Amino acid sequence: MNFFDNATCYGSDEAETRFGDAFALTGIKREDVIIQSKVGLCFERNEFDWTKENILSSVDDSLRRMKLDYLDAVLLHRPDLIFDPEEVAQAFDELEQSGKVRHFGVSNVPTLQMELLKKYVKQPLVFNQLQLSLEQSQLIDQALYVNNKTTDMSIDRDNGTLDYCRLNDITIQAWSPLQYGMFEGSFIDSPKFPQLNQALQELGDKYGVSKAAIAIAWILRHPAKMQAIVGTMNPKHLIDVCAAADVELTHHEWYQLYLAAGKFLP
Ligand SMILES: NC(=O)c1ccc[n+]([C@@H]2O[C@H](COP(=O)([O-])OP(=O)(O)OC[C@H]3O[C@@H](n4cnc5c(N)ncnc54)[C@H](OP(=O)(O)O)[C@@H]3O)[C@@H](O)[C@H]2O)c1
Repeated sequence: MNFFDNATCYGSDEAETRFGDAFALTGIKREDVIIQSKVGLCFERNEFDWTKENILSSVDDSLRRMKLDYLDAVLLHRPDLIFDPEEVAQAFDELEQSGKVRHFGVSNVPTLQMELLKKYVKQPLVFNQLQLSLEQSQLIDQALYVNNKTTDMSIDRDNGTLDYCRLNDITIQAWSPLQYGMFEGSFIDSPKFPQLNQALQELGDKYGVSKAAIAIAWILRHPAKMQAIVGTMNPKHLIDVCAAADVELTHHEWYQLYLAAGKFLP
């Protein structure tokens, strides 16, 4: 595990400052890790801002706080409803030319907005960070029921973003991969999800790993070759989830978990 996801808005500016302080103490070489930040979500101003000025100043702030010369990747965090793709393109060009950012991407951005960006932005969009967990699996569900009107599972909420990313070699980063709802908590060991926890436990026993590792392995099993962005304050939990990388769930086990999470097949 060598990939760190940050954002200008996390913990106000506290998260990146603490990350920078901690990283300096480790003695790990900068080139041995991948450090990403996200810009454009401005809680303090109550707006989302993809203007050139904000993108450039946010990257400078992140570099200063983390004491870095460059970011491996920067993502536009969540759509600015009045964004101008030409301005984004200018900002990305400056960041690339100055060597401050090596790769560019987006987060929570649906298909046509990626197309709009691609009309102007020269650099490939390499990532789209999207909400995906066993419980919050809308990204995947919608293909199952196509145009059926008897269930909400058929609602296309993002205009085919999963397939668009696969077609365009954009790696999906699954955020909140262990949570249910919108930041309602982890489903691991939650009494609200008895069937899911039982299925996770059974497969955890089979593979000799934790329930959380199985939940992450479910994401890694998807042929889109997604990354899972896990958050933890507990070093043991971090070690637990790393084991997911060594688990290759079978096709049938992937479906077993999907159904145990309350989904149903047509
Ligand atoms: N792009 C976006 O809009 C967006 C939105 C939200 C999040 N994110 C990114 O996604 C990351 C993860 O999101 P998140 O923290 O909301 O959700 P998460 O990783 O799905 O869940 C975190 C919760 O799971 C628990 N947990 C973690 N590992 C565990 C383990 N091995 N066993 C049992 N419980 C475990 C944590 O508790 P402990 O601390 O006790 O381990 C915490 O309560 C964030 O840090 C952020 O980088 C991005």
